[in-house]
Amino acid sequence: MKVLLLFCLLTLGSSKPYQPINIMDLMKSYDIMMADSDEDEDDDDYDDEDCPAHCRCSPGVVQCSDQGLISVPEKIPEDTVMIDLQNNDITEIQEDDFKGLNKLYGLFLNNNKISKIHPKAFRNMDHLRLLYLSYNLLTEIPANLPPNIIELRFHENNINRIQKDAFKGLRKLHVLELGANPLANSGMELGSFNGLSTLYIGIAEAKLTEVPKDLPASITELSLDYNKISKVEVEDLMRYKNLKRLGLGFNQIRSVENGSFTSIPNIHEIHLNHNRLKKVPPGLGSLRFLQAIFLHGNKISNVGFNDFCPKSVSIKKNPYSAISLFANPVKYWNIQPATFRCVISRRGVQLGNFRKK
Ligand SMILES: *[C@@H]1O[C@H](CO)[C@@H](O)[C@H](O)[C@H]1NC(C)=O
Repeated sequence: MKVLLLFCLLTLGSSKPYQPINIMDLMKSYDIMMADSDEDEDDDDYDDEDCPAHCRCSPGVVQCSDQGLISVPEKIPEDTVMIDLQNNDITEIQEDDFKGLNKLYGLFLNNNKISKIHPKAFRNMDHLRLLYLSYNLLTEIPANLPPNIIELRFHENNINRIQKDAFKGLRKLHVLELGANPLANSGMELGSFNGLSTLYIGIAEAKLTEVPKDLPASITELSLDYNKISKVEVEDLMRYKNLKRLGLGFNQIRSVENGSFTSIPNIHEIHLNHNRLKKVPPGLGSLRFLQAIFLHGNKISNVGFNDFCPKSVSIKKNPYSAISLFANPVKYWNIQPATFRCVISRRGVQLGNFRKK
């Protein structure tokens, strides 16, 4: 069940233009989770008079999006599990804004103007799993985040620094979205990610010049697209042995040091499109589970016979489903067809520019 929920959450993704989140869809996964758990929900009748001004209420859910609110409404019922405050003009979260809401499961504050969160604002939120703060004006990670959070989103704020132990104690965190913040490598203090066993970390559209080396070793998915990373070295990926998907597209990568990928043997998908590579990164043929490698939009001028597939048939490799090489200066007619001997079908290799006659 957790895996299913995580999948739903990931597909919500970090899509660039702001898209409102459908709380009722999330409510369904909440219901499924709750049906799984032993807790008995008492079905008390819902009293409409309990609904705060400017909000619509249904059992457990308070929806106050798109109301031009400048602060969190008062008198939110104590049995609320989801609060939708997206698309308002809230500037600050005060100490008692969510006081007594101990059953809260999801809190959606994305697309407001929040620059300040009181350090005690999230106290006693032991059931909170989803906290969305994307598209706000935060400059740092709020203090005292609720301990059982699964998903934390800060996409497009002004965060330029992550202090040591910023996420301490969040042992259940699976998804951490930090993309589209002015974060440089120097802005992440050593130990920023201490104590996390996160599965997904997103730091795309930031100011990174190298792969951060101090992320949790547990990550299976890392998105670093749209940064200014100029190279990949052996020590960069050493910690991330569980990595399945690596996003490094739209950077300025000129070289990938031989051996960089040996430490990520479980990798399924690598995005290196739109960089400055002059050759296919070394070592792809020995990545048994690698199914998709995106190299389009580089400066690759030459593709060797063993660049993608194992040299010997005795080395096991699952076949590729996708290799993209278009928009490179390589003369495609010079590539030997057997270079792609370990691809599922011809359609899996994208060489040309998709132009149809
Ligand atoms: C990369 O390293 C491996 C193992 O040390 C070696 O066999 C291989 O020839 C190297 N490849 C390149 C392109 O230098």
